[in-house]
Amino acid sequence: MDRISRIIEDIREYGIQNNVPIMSVDTINEITKIIKENNIKNILEIGTAIAYSTICFASIEGIKITSVERDNDRFLKAQENVKLTNFNNINLIHDDALNIDIKDKFDLIIIDAAKSQNMKFFNKFKENLNDKGIIIIDNLSFHGYVGKSNEIKSRNLRQMVRKIEKFLDFLDNNQEFDITYINVGDKLGVCKKKNI
Ligand SMILES: C[S@@+](CC[C@H](N)C(=O)[O-])C[C@H]1O[C@@H](n2cnc3c(N)ncnc32)[C@H](O)[C@@H]1O
Repeated sequence: MDRISRIIEDIREYGIQNNVPIMSVDTINEITKIIKENNIKNILEIGTAIAYSTICFASIEGIKITSVERDNDRFLKAQENVKLTNFNNINLIHDDALNIDIKDKFDLIIIDAAKSQNMKFFNKFKENLNDKGIIIIDNLSFHGYVGKSNEIKSRNLRQMVRKIEKFLDFLDNNQEFDITYINVGDKLGVCKKKNI
């Protein structure tokens, strides 16, 4: 195993042991495939956590990635992890993504933050997408609960799942993007901007 793969594996193990939600390996592989097939060069990621996915994608040749995290402890751990890699193609931002104003445009935007806020992130950051850009949203199945919100006893969980269900309705009825769902990990939504 090379040095970067070792670092990535150590971060993954740390995430699992410390209950930090990170993408599944299958999800990382699927997004990596999309990045390569679509000649993606720059990425905006909403939800860094400890920079596991950030470093995975930054290790793809020719990629620049900006990633936003609001939690202080996770942001500090993410900084520490990025430092280990010596990568200079990662820009970490410590803030609430809904409060920031990013001017740059990106080929790919990955939404992997508070699941109840997907619609807000989508509507805000679609303005930062290049023509023919792609938005990917993770956890659209939310551990199998999505589509079954009426059966959920916990009020908080039910409200959150209902927001994901509403977001899926919004995606299915939108005119700006072609949407594909991929049943990998916790289900990905892949939204490609139409050429209107
Ligand atoms: C699922 S984790 C990200 C995992 C990471 N993408 C990975 O796979 O390694 C979601 C992260 O988003 C952060 N988050 C949630 N809402 C946010 C917001 N509004 N702005 C910035 N970060 C947010 C959480 O603190 C959490 O660390």
